[in-house]
Amino acid sequence: EKLVTVQTLRKMKASGEKFITVALYDAPMAAMAQKTGVETLLVGDSLGMTVLGYDSTVPVTMEQMIYHVEAVARGNKKSLIMGDMPFMTYATPEQALTNATRIMQAGAHMVKIEGGAWLAETIKMLTDRGIPVCGHLGLTPQSVHKLGGYRVQGRDEEHAEQMLRDASVLDQAGVDLLVLECIPSTLAKRITEAVSMPTIGIGAGRDTDAQVLVINDILGLTEQPPKFSKNFLVEAEDIPGALRKYAEDVKLGVFPEDAHTFN
Ligand code: KIV
Ligand code: NA
Repeated sequence: EKLVTVQTLRKMKASGEKFITVALYDAPMAAMAQKTGVETLLVGDSLGMTVLGYDSTVPVTMEQMIYHVEAVARGNKKSLIMGDMPFMTYATPEQALTNATRIMQAGAHMVKIEGGAWLAETIKMLTDRGIPVCGHLGLTPQSVHKLGGYRVQGRDEEHAEQMLRDASVLDQAGVDLLVLECIPSTLAKRITEAVSMPTIGIGAGRDTDAQVLVINDILGLTEQPPKFSKNFLVEAEDIPGALRKYAEDVKLGVFPEDAHTFN
């Protein structure tokens, strides 16, 4: 079967076909998601909260990420696997290179890091050496204590312009994908049109090139689900059915609805 690559995703952006990402953490979920046609699997450091019971992603370690990337890689055949780099493991370009190497060797095809223009040198360091990088702007959960909570980002024009500049710096530095989390849909649209790499939205409206949701939210495992998420299991018979419904609704432009977006 055909493998999903960075090239596949760029072509999809160019042709306007949406692609699907699911944040998941283990082999059986990975096996089901890739079988359903989910193009990219994100081993998110959200696992600190969704699997391990911490109240943020800050405590997550390299060892925990590697354990879960390896599990997802064992379940996967054809999807592209992204692995999050945990809190403070990419504070300098040299640290980033050492730690990204370990995530890649655990079975990821790309690493994801949170932040703006300050990451330019790091991104160049990694991509020049053959490690694809996904950026992450907007609500960056590893900075929750600096941001003062999990809140929508880029609401005022000054912040919006700053985020557009950051996105452009990441693009120039060689980022292959860009996650946009919890920002107004109008801003997500502007960024998506301005950058060359595909954007993946969560709480960022319908106009990004792709969508990502966390498997726990898709399956109703979250006690207080965020406004932008949806339990797809309620309209499905089983877990593959819920994944199929999510993927279909994104491809058709039906999900996210207005109720899931910020303005
Ligand atoms: O850790 C994660 O699951 C993420 C996504 C929500 C984008 O970073
Ligand atoms: Na994450």
